[in-house]
Amino acid sequence: MKLTSWLAFSIDRTSKTPIFEQICGFIREQAISGELPEGTRLPPTRVFATDLGISRSTVVTAYEQLEAEGYLQGLRGSGYTVCAMGQVELQGQGTRTLSATSETKVEPAKPFEISQADLRLFPHRQWATTVKRVCRTNPQSMLAGGSLFGCFELREAIADHVSEWRGINASAHQVIITAGSTDALEICVRAVCKTGDAIGLEEPGYLPVRRFASDYGLATSFLNIDGNGAELPSQGDHARLVVLTPSQQFPLGGAMSPSRRLEFIHWAEENNAWVVEDDYDSEFRYSGRPIPAMAGFDCLKRTIYIGSFSKTFSNSLRLGYMIAPEGLVENFHSAMKQIGVKASYMPQPALAEFMKSGEFHRHLRRVRRTYGERRKFLLNRLERDFTDFGSFKDHQAGMQVVLHLNSRFEDFRISQHAADKGMSVQPLSYYSTGDLSHNGLILGFCGSTEEELGRALDLLLSCFSET
Ligand SMILES: Cc1ncc(COP(=O)(O)O)c(C=O)c1O
Repeated sequence: MKLTSWLAFSIDRTSKTPIFEQICGFIREQAISGELPEGTRLPPTRVFATDLGISRSTVVTAYEQLEAEGYLQGLRGSGYTVCAMGQVELQGQGTRTLSATSETKVEPAKPFEISQADLRLFPHRQWATTVKRVCRTNPQSMLAGGSLFGCFELREAIADHVSEWRGINASAHQVIITAGSTDALEICVRAVCKTGDAIGLEEPGYLPVRRFASDYGLATSFLNIDGNGAELPSQGDHARLVVLTPSQQFPLGGAMSPSRRLEFIHWAEENNAWVVEDDYDSEFRYSGRPIPAMAGFDCLKRTIYIGSFSKTFSNSLRLGYMIAPEGLVENFHSAMKQIGVKASYMPQPALAEFMKSGEFHRHLRRVRRTYGERRKFLLNRLERDFTDFGSFKDHQAGMQVVLHLNSRFEDFRISQHAADKGMSVQPLSYYSTGDLSHNGLILGFCGSTEEELGRALDLLLSCFSET
């Protein structure tokens, strides 16, 4: 047990509760009981971390979480102070707060789970405040439904978001709210393909898309990935649609080169075909300038853009969106009439408000910073401890890193060992159609703190020695 001089706080290293949660729990209790009155200045993160002998980023994560829950207020350049507790209590619920109490405790993801956001960082207070405001000021908007393409205010907010973050110039009329990317893909296929058409899919690639294409009776043409990204379909394939992940290839990582993007756009123009850009986690770029979306590059002529709130906000919201080229808006309308609306309407006005008030981008910047630190931690450990087993590339983006294994290791075996030890390590070969050159481990880093990642990496090391 390690003690800090500040308020005699101690961390329990034998506990299963992550250290940042222990810090959060302690400060919450102190704030609620009044031991820490409003305005109390917390110790600087560096001092607190040194006192406890833990990494500074753990303290930063705890402070940011408490800020998101409304217990602390962060002031640029002058640290964090305790907020008035009236601000975090739900009206009429006594001392219950918006924090993750034992009843509502969010379990951490399994170590290395891919594409998994850390739901413990969810901005409970801001989201609750927004929902409450919409319920009070415009309750009918949550029940309105009606439009096949979703809540117009949310479509406007998305058009602003993709303009600022992804370089796409679209009007709200082109934005369609979906129940995530699989729903979006179904609408795309209905809007532009007929049974028997061919579809080009990346190899390795996202599996639900493959299942979906085969359920719809589409002939699949697999597109290998080279140093520039996915290769073009062969002439004889007559693909009507290709689905690409140009910002960050799934699952390998890495962005498609500008020249390859242009080749795809020309290919689509010449073949009267369409490109679907699945931009599933593009907001998570950790250094350098963001790479604009392909749909922006193409001015939305032949590219249909798909985005999701699953990674940036919450998977359980089940909301995503699609941006249609002007010339396809009518086709999408007819397709949606046939399929029916699957996206839930009720949270849409609140999400629109959340985006327009700037809370969404504040949350996005906050989690991106935390994920960036976790990513750095993972890469340092891979460099230090895993180079005898394989190699990796730093793509400075995304939610996972691939450790490409030396041929003496089989990814399925290591993955099975890891599963036996309670981890979720996806084998790379699972995402391909049998190409033996894809032998690796896909290591998600967003859902676990550095301490949790550290423990999991120790366990993963033992999987190699036991193989
Ligand atoms: C390539 C790819 N596209 C899209 C998604 C997200 O899908 P959804 O919006 O349905 O959650 C994922 C999720 O992991 C993914 O890996």
